[in-house]
Amino acid sequence: MAELFSLRPAKDADKALLDAYCFAEGMDVLPDVEHVTVAQNASGEPVGFIRLARGSNGIWHVNPVVVYAPWRGYGVGRALTQWALEETGELRMVARGAAVGFYEALGFEACSWDEVDMSVTEQCDGCPMISECAPRPMKKRQPA
Ligand SMILES: CC(C)(COP(=O)(O)OP(=O)(O)OC[C@H]1O[C@@H](n2cnc3c(N)ncnc32)[C@H](O)[C@@H]1OP(=O)(O)O)[C@@H](O)C(=O)NCCC(=O)NCCS
Repeated sequence: MAELFSLRPAKDADKALLDAYCFAEGMDVLPDVEHVTVAQNASGEPVGFIRLARGSNGIWHVNPVVVYAPWRGYGVGRALTQWALEETGELRMVARGAAVGFYEALGFEACSWDEVDMSVTEQCDGCPMISECAPRPMKKRQPA
């Protein structure tokens, strides 16, 4: 059976669609498509993406990973995150509460707030949804 999706670097032409995916999740639009990898369907259309940002601690952070809702549950988020982990060796992020189970399924564990660089993650300070969202800093190192 042909693969449902494949990964490729994002192009400028993808940005409007990726921004729409962000908007649907209440996230800011992407600054650009640098360090963005998409999962594309058989027609080459992005059905999800991961954006990485390098923190001042030298560690790559996920900000964000988003899968288009009809495509959730097919392993797209796992493939994007696992690929990024293999590329970087270690990933950290501030996970929205609703996504903590996703990261746990991939073997991420909770870490301290000091271990994430808040300048490259989703901003939680001052967010009126913080108690409802219950964000959690998380990390995983790729086994050698
Ligand atoms: C979180 C998200 C990226 C997951 O993408 P996905 O493609 O549906 O995930 P996958 O199909 O690859 O799932 C991988 C594993 O995580 C589990 N999982 C996925 N979403 C989950 C959730 N919300 N809670 C608990 N477990 C979850 C799956 O059951 C699967 O486990 P398994 O392999 O043991 O069966 C997607 O739901 C999404 O885009 N959410 C909105 C944006 C968001 O919150 N992003 C995270 C920002 S921190």
